[in-house]
Amino acid sequence: MGELRTILAIETSCDETAAAVVVDGHHTIANVVASQVEIHRRYGGVVPEVASRQHILSIDTVINEALAQTPGGWASIDAVAATYGPGLSGALLTGLNTAKALAWARGLPFIGVNHVEAHMYGAWLSGEDAPQFPCVALIVSGGHTLLVLLRGHGDAIRLGGTLDDAAGEAFDKVARLLELGFPGGPAIQRLALAPAQQERLPRAWLHGTYDFSFSGLKTAVLHADQQAQQTLADQPDALHQRRREIAYLFQESVVDILTRKAKQAVLDTGAVSLILAGGVAANTRLREVLRRRISVPIHVPPFALCTDNAAMIAACAYWRPQIAGWDLAVDPNLSFV
Ligand code: KG4
Ligand code: ZN
Repeated sequence: MGELRTILAIETSCDETAAAVVVDGHHTIANVVASQVEIHRRYGGVVPEVASRQHILSIDTVINEALAQTPGGWASIDAVAATYGPGLSGALLTGLNTAKALAWARGLPFIGVNHVEAHMYGAWLSGEDAPQFPCVALIVSGGHTLLVLLRGHGDAIRLGGTLDDAAGEAFDKVARLLELGFPGGPAIQRLALAPAQQERLPRAWLHGTYDFSFSGLKTAVLHADQQAQQTLADQPDALHQRRREIAYLFQESVVDILTRKAKQAVLDTGAVSLILAGGVAANTRLREVLRRRISVPIHVPPFALCTDNAAMIAACAYWRPQIAGWDLAVDPNLSFV
């Protein structure tokens, strides 16, 4: 690519304050993430105001640590990148303004990055062969559920997306309902327990589209839980066990829908590879079923780079260097397809 080989990137779109240095769009030199998960856990979800303040407190330390891990420090950095959307506006502001100020002070180019697009670039950091185009990408995070056809860097076509909740959001809401913990995805994966009898929760197929809907499934979980609460009112252990079974059935439904739609998209488009990205890509059941169903090579970021991080922002900035002006503003609803 160009001469902007070593990129320092900053990510603050939600509840992780992150900075990373990546060389040539695939070699991670430093990847520092200050997670706020313990702070938000007591509220059962991310509180935007709290997230913004925490970013301000953490950002200097996180950037300094990333630079300390980079041989040559600032002298080796060719450009500074930051997420400018989508995400929480107050949270985005901290990372974007810090990155702009640093780039300006150091006389370096500044690159604005779309967070959802960047999730795909975690797949370029796996240490394995790069994904080949055309490629279908299934991006499943706490804020987004999207199927896209990627024909080249910066050349994406939207195939479909969620009509209501994002997949990760559904995991989080269901985990809260079943009192299994926060964040919901990892809690459900850890506690999911197959019921002894054959059972299943509904799947919204939305035939003929690549769209998703998880609201009916959420309602089915609610009803199953209400029934469990009635029948097991005075047996807390048995109720918890039943809730783990409901979590299993929920996960099976989500995985079934995501993998079948992704398979259909690969078949219909003639894609030669598939990228699975976003926080929900950390789900081992999803990875397993996808690998069983799909015949083209599947590229998944390393586990640590599925959830929010700045290495994926740096990789995206390298492969798709959109040099921005100093007036670039945050865009909470930014889309890339
Ligand atoms: O990509 P991400 O860190 O943030 C957004 O950009 O939204 O994704 C966070 C989401 C959360 O909803 C979390 O519950 C989900 O990813 N997640 C998982 C797993 N690990 C994280 N969902 C299912 N299984 C997992 N193992
Ligand atoms: Zn994300």
